[in-house]
Amino acid sequence: MIEVRDLVKKYGPQKAVDGVSFDVARGELFGLLGPNGAGKTTTIGVLSTLLRADGGQVRIGGHDVATAPSAVRRLIGVVPQEIALYTDLNARDNLVFWGRLHGLGGAALNRRVEELLVLADLADQARRRVETFSGGMMRRLNLVAGLIHQPEVLFLDEPTVGIDAQARSRILELIADLGRQGLTVIYTTHYLEEAEQLCDRIGVIDRGRLVALGDKESLIGQIGDVDLIRLAIPADRHEAFTAACLGWEGCVGVGERRGRIEVRARDGGQLLPHIQAWLEAGGVPLEQLEVERPNLETLYLNLTGRGLREEAP
Ligand SMILES: Nc1ncnc2c1ncn2[C@@H]1O[C@H](COP(=O)(O)OP(=O)(O)OP(=O)(O)O)[C@@H](O)[C@H]1O
Ligand SMILES: [Mg+2]
Repeated sequence: MIEVRDLVKKYGPQKAVDGVSFDVARGELFGLLGPNGAGKTTTIGVLSTLLRADGGQVRIGGHDVATAPSAVRRLIGVVPQEIALYTDLNARDNLVFWGRLHGLGGAALNRRVEELLVLADLADQARRRVETFSGGMMRRLNLVAGLIHQPEVLFLDEPTVGIDAQARSRILELIADLGRQGLTVIYTTHYLEEAEQLCDRIGVIDRGRLVALGDKESLIGQIGDVDLIRLAIPADRHEAFTAACLGWEGCVGVGERRGRIEVRARDGGQLLPHIQAWLEAGGVPLEQLEVERPNLETLYLNLTGRGLREEAP
């Protein structure tokens, strides 16, 4: 349904998207996961014909976004990162407005608006001005507005930012439902748990490049069966610890992040007694120790050297 080949988009000399390629099958929920500034919104902008690429090719439903943008626009719905609603209008009138923009009218539009109000669980709030809505209600209305013309593909750009956990899980349920009904979805987020919970396949984007692509299991498989041990010890012992640790069997690597030591180990349980003994022998106080099994977060750290919530430099 979606084919992206070597996509490049520049802002001045800076490449915001730098050679990205991926495919999304019909009916698939594809997650584009990356930190702030990674290039998610820019990618969505090109795919949805709002921005023109500087290189590469994008086809949606077989139509090239550069040469057949109107055919593409008929197939797609876009839910922007910034809420695009008229807050002095009520919920219903916002949907009617979007419908008219798409050339809908009359009874068909009214029917569609009622359907979407039900879908967003806003049927009994339809006459309320949007400015009185909670963040979660606005996000739900913003989302269904992108569905008014019954698109086959939906682009969702961080649709859960700035809302509480309960509102977020309602949005995720709504999207999962749409996926089950056969809609093709591209979903951008910097919340790892969301991509993990919702998406069939995930692309991890960092500084304009796809650093990983695949289903969840195969992505975790890429880092192999490596545990991550984090420990906090006084800074003046880091060097000695690192040297000792690299000599222990099963140690794959040692690094430092945010003042803590991070040890990658083939089997965390095998390495822990060595660590314990070393600390005791040297009388080194241990402030904190955690062992983490491989997950998408450790994959992401391995790939980018940064946590998902850290800013791109
Ligand atoms: N209109 C613009 N002009 C210049 N630079 C831009 C513009 N829009 C985005 N950028 C830059 O391009 C890069 C990618 O930005 P983009 O908005 O696509 O990232 P993002 O992954 O959507 O981030 P966020 O999670 O913060 O929404 C960033 O470095 C950003 O500063
Ligand atoms: Mg963005």
